[in-house]
Amino acid sequence: MNKKVVELLNAQVNKEFFSAYLYLGISKFFTKQDLPGFASWYKVQAEEEQEHAMKFYEYLLDQDEDVTLEAIAEVKINLKDALDAAKEADKHEHYITDEIVKIMDAAVEAKDYRTQLLLDWFIKEQEEEEKNSKEMIAKIEMLGNDKKNLYLLDKELGGRKAD
Ligand SMILES: [Fe+2]
Repeated sequence: MNKKVVELLNAQVNKEFFSAYLYLGISKFFTKQDLPGFASWYKVQAEEEQEHAMKFYEYLLDQDEDVTLEAIAEVKINLKDALDAAKEADKHEHYITDEIVKIMDAAVEAKDYRTQLLLDWFIKEQEEEEKNSKEMIAKIEMLGNDKKNLYLLDKELGGRKAD
């Protein structure tokens, strides 16, 4: 495989694991805010990000390439409220989309059609992720960004405190 494509795919494994970590940080914020529905929504996102990381990981190994498991960066977010959290997620998804596109550019340049097929899936997935994060911001803005108003949305997101 093209060296640059391998490097970018390798870096993406780490970025997807960081995404999982970031979502876990957001989930934790909502747990502390007593909004368990939001917390579980973002925990599910964290699980999805781990699956993304593993897709890149498996792909590299399937191509007989190596994977370097680099340190996952600390999550340094200082969230004020639900809207702030939703915006943080949205910003991050746009960043990830840009990164995926960069890998696609390299794969196109290298005429690496197999990697392009893998990335097609991710480009579609990012469209979905951006749509979800944008909708979350819109919902919070419509309801009003305070806990009393967010209570109903929290229930809709599947939140139920443990008995
Ligand atoms: Fe992802």
